[in-house]
Amino acid sequence: MSEFKPEHTSVLLDEVIGFLELESGSVVIDATLGLGGHTEAILERFDNARVIGIDQDERALAAASERLRRFGKRFVDVHSNFSAITKVAVDHGVTSVDAIIADLGVSSMQLDDPERGFSFRFDAPLDMRMDTTSGRTATELLEELKEEEIANLIYSYGEERKSRRIARWIVERREKGQPIQATAELAQLVERAVGRSPKNKIHPATRTFQALRIAVNDELGVLDRFIADSVDLLKPNGKLCVITFHSLEDRIVKQTFQRLSGRCFCPPRIPRCVCGAVKRVEILTRKPVIATEAEMKANPRSRSAKLRVCRKLAN
Ligand SMILES: C[S@@+](CC[C@H](N)C(=O)[O-])C[C@H]1O[C@@H](n2cnc3c(N)ncnc32)[C@H](O)[C@@H]1O
Repeated sequence: MSEFKPEHTSVLLDEVIGFLELESGSVVIDATLGLGGHTEAILERFDNARVIGIDQDERALAAASERLRRFGKRFVDVHSNFSAITKVAVDHGVTSVDAIIADLGVSSMQLDDPERGFSFRFDAPLDMRMDTTSGRTATELLEELKEEEIANLIYSYGEERKSRRIARWIVERREKGQPIQATAELAQLVERAVGRSPKNKIHPATRTFQALRIAVNDELGVLDRFIADSVDLLKPNGKLCVITFHSLEDRIVKQTFQRLSGRCFCPPRIPRCVCGAVKRVEILTRKPVIATEAEMKANPRSRSAKLRVCRKLAN
C-alpha cells in the first residue's frame, strides 16, 4: 500500500447525534463506517453505547479500527455489504438494535486515494470498487455492457445529457481492441467526445465518473431492501438515520420511508388497497435535514447531503 493519509469530514454530525437520544448501554449499527466519524461521536457522547461498524471497504475498516481502538470492546468492525445487515447482527448475537445510521456513497478517503480509480485527479487503474475483494471493476463493466446500457447508466446515474455520444466513443474504442484501463484514458475520451467549455469549471468527465461508480457498486440496487431490513432490526422507538448525496438515492429513501409509514402506493383507479401498506414507522423529517451555511462553507461535500430519519413504532 502507498503512503496515503486517509481523511474524511463527517457530515451532519450534530444533527444525527441530536436525533438518536440513546440510553446508556444502547446498541447501534453504523452501516457505512467509513473513517468512523459518526461512530466516534456516538461512542463519545452516549455512555456505554456499543457500535457494530460495517463497511465493504477493507481500507476504510482498517483506518476506522485504528481510530476507534481506544473504545475497546464497545466497538466491533465488520467487513460486509450493508445488504447483509441482518446476518451481521445475527453473527454478533444481536436480535434488535436501538439505532442504525447510514451515510451513503463514497468517503473523501476513497476519492483521494490515488490507487482506487474513483477520481480522474489521479491516473490509476479504472477500478472504482469499494469492495476490492469482489465484483466487476469499471473497466470490466465498460467491456461487458451494451452501448445502450452504458448510455442509460451514464444518463440516469450521472444526469449527463450527452450520454449517448460518450457511450458511442467508449464502444468504438473497445471495438478497436483498446479497452479503457485507466482513469486518465476515460477522462480524456469523455473530454474529446463532449468538448470542454472554458466557462465550465467542472471537468466534463465528472458526471460520467459518478455514474460509473454508482453502477460498479450497485449503490441504488441494495438501498430499499436495506431500509426494510433495518426497520425489522430496530427495537420499538429505535431510529434509522440515512444521509444521501444523490437525488435518485434520496428519492429511494423518501419513498421507502413513505411506504413503511403506511402510505398506499396503489394507482388511484383501484378501489381497495392491494399494495399491503402497513404503518411501521413514523417519519421524523417531513423535509430532509440539510447542512447549515457554516457546514457547507467548511465542508463543500456537505452541500448535497440530505438526512432523513424515521422511528420504529411499537407493534
Ligand atoms: C460517506 S462514507 C461514511 C463516512 C463515515 N460516516 C464517517 O463519518 O467517517 C461511506 C462509506 O460507506 C461505505 N459503503 C457504501 N456503500 C456500502 C454498502 N452497500 N455496504 C457497506 N459499506 C458501504 C463506503 O465504503 C464508505 O466507506
